[in-house]
Amino acid sequence: MKDRFQTIDELEAVLLKIYDKSTAHPEFQDRWRKENPSMGQCVPAALIVQHYFGGEIYKHSKEFHYYNLIGGEVVDLTKNQFPCELNYSKGKKKRPNLRMAKTKERFELLKERTERFLDTRALAATVEIVNLADYPQYLEQCALWVWEEWDKERGRTLDDVVAKCRNSVNRDKVPQMYGALIGEELIGMVSIWFGDGQTGSPPEYPWICSLFVKDEYRGHDIGVKLQKKCLEAVKGFGFKKLYLTTHLKGYYERTGWKLYAKPLIKGQGSLIYEHDLSSEPLKTDSKRD
Ligand SMILES: CC(C)(COP(=O)(O)OP(=O)(O)OC[C@H]1O[C@@H](n2cnc3c(N)ncnc32)[C@H](O)[C@@H]1OP(=O)(O)O)[C@@H](O)C(=O)NCCC(=O)NCCS
Repeated sequence: MKDRFQTIDELEAVLLKIYDKSTAHPEFQDRWRKENPSMGQCVPAALIVQHYFGGEIYKHSKEFHYYNLIGGEVVDLTKNQFPCELNYSKGKKKRPNLRMAKTKERFELLKERTERFLDTRALAATVEIVNLADYPQYLEQCALWVWEEWDKERGRTLDDVVAKCRNSVNRDKVPQMYGALIGEELIGMVSIWFGDGQTGSPPEYPWICSLFVKDEYRGHDIGVKLQKKCLEAVKGFGFKKLYLTTHLKGYYERTGWKLYAKPLIKGQGSLIYEHDLSSEPLKTDSKRD
């Protein structure tokens, strides 16, 4: 099983993304928060560590808490839920009772999610970002995403959005549209337009719009790869800056976007960001600062 992960740190990074309330101990589910993801997860986490890395499971002497011992070393992937350091010296070897507190179901769920995450990550690594001028067969799918995600509530018809997408594909100038392909499946998109058309854009351009990744492929850097393609394209056309508008908090900052302004139309809650194209290129792995 060790071949699925090179290191325990790698397993921990995956677990922190996939824990949720349903894998937490039933008594902790109401208190589970994204900010403290390992809360209530010690039993399924210890079982998962043993599943992939072997060793023994131990129970803490004072806290109701399980952890692992591998090659004589304590491995406690859920210690961050405690406010202070734990003393492991009097812990006892004890396998959790799989029939208690839905333990078996929680362990199986975490295991299934871990395997799915690894499979999706491997698939996501094969993604190809393509100019949709060369793949017009995907434009209707893009239009549907744009319509469902943004334009439906703005009162636009799907036909209008399909027409706009068809008129927005070019190889050598703005506007452009890019798709993320895994094999023949379209799993994401992004557009470069002269304005976002919503927020009272300032006269500067171009803009990144309609960045979208299919739900099941999120969290594997596809969004970053789509952004990177746009930055390279507009830089190649000689532009110095790229803009976008978003409601998302903390997403674009990770890849070097800087807050430019609040939108110029009153009542819009979104913000405008700019990217200086003379700065460092985007990193495309998940270890961003
Ligand atoms: C926003 C979106 C494009 C991100 O795509 P993605 O492929 O998952 O993005 P990446 O894998 O490149 O980045 C994921 C990282 O960003 C973080 N992130 C994702 N959505 C976020 C959000 N809404 N706010 C803050 N951070 C977010 C994730 O936690 C993840 O961090 P991690 O790698 O440390 O776990 C995707 O969630 C999406 O399509 N959302 C719906 C449409 C949308 O809101 N588009 C943006 C319009 S401005």
